[in-house]
Amino acid sequence: VICRDAVEASEQVAREIIDLIRKRSEESKPVVLGLATGSTPLLLYKRLIQAHRDEGLSFKNVITFNLDEYYGLEREHPESYWKFMHDQLFDHIDIPAENINLPDGRVPRDEVFAYCQNYEKQIEEAGGLDIQILGIGRTGHIGFNEPGSSEDSLTRMVTLDHLTRKDAARDFQGENAVPRNAITMGIGTILKAEKIYLMAWGQAKAEIISKAVEAEPTGVLPASFLQLHKNATFYIDRAAASEL
Ligand code: GLP
Repeated sequence: VICRDAVEASEQVAREIIDLIRKRSEESKPVVLGLATGSTPLLLYKRLIQAHRDEGLSFKNVITFNLDEYYGLEREHPESYWKFMHDQLFDHIDIPAENINLPDGRVPRDEVFAYCQNYEKQIEEAGGLDIQILGIGRTGHIGFNEPGSSEDSLTRMVTLDHLTRKDAARDFQGENAVPRNAITMGIGTILKAEKIYLMAWGQAKAEIISKAVEAEPTGVLPASFLQLHKNATFYIDRAAASEL
């Protein structure tokens, strides 16, 4: 879906989420959302906060699982995804704290494997992801599934790509301060979601979007695996669509 701009696209994705939350709350059933960080979903989160504040939308029956977290950061670190999600969304809506799930970047190394298996189990026990929101990195990563990730990969510890760390350097105090590892849901975890919405804005994403949509699905470009999903939609602005 090629939209005029990020505002229009974010509005459409927000509408889908808001409608599902309302429908499920009438049935007294939970909604399970897979959430992403980065600048791309900021307008979506603003719109959800507005729906809570002005339209009486309650998030009491919403359960969230975030895609990823930098490894080795304290929760209160200014660049942790835990902090980002609380600042940009959770602190402004009525979601119960126990419904919020984010990979924990503080787990000791020898416990990471078991921790990741348990994250998968928690998603399953919640009933699976109804909607997964995604951005895309310039390496073609979704979550932190860098090139080389397999189609059936699950939640695990990964090593960040050089380009990803370079792009993140603007948020940290230079590239050296960017963590080398992260915990991320896998491609397999993401592909199990009922619906997937990937969003991308601006010229800087145009090349990777055209490859993700038009190249054969390949681990060299993890977002291309989304072509294998039966219900994945890219919401992009005109600039990001310019190389399609
Ligand atoms: C990080 C996140 C991704 C996100 C990407 C793009 O690498 N782990 O989930 O999609 O950044 O960020 P932005 O939306 O700021 O372009």
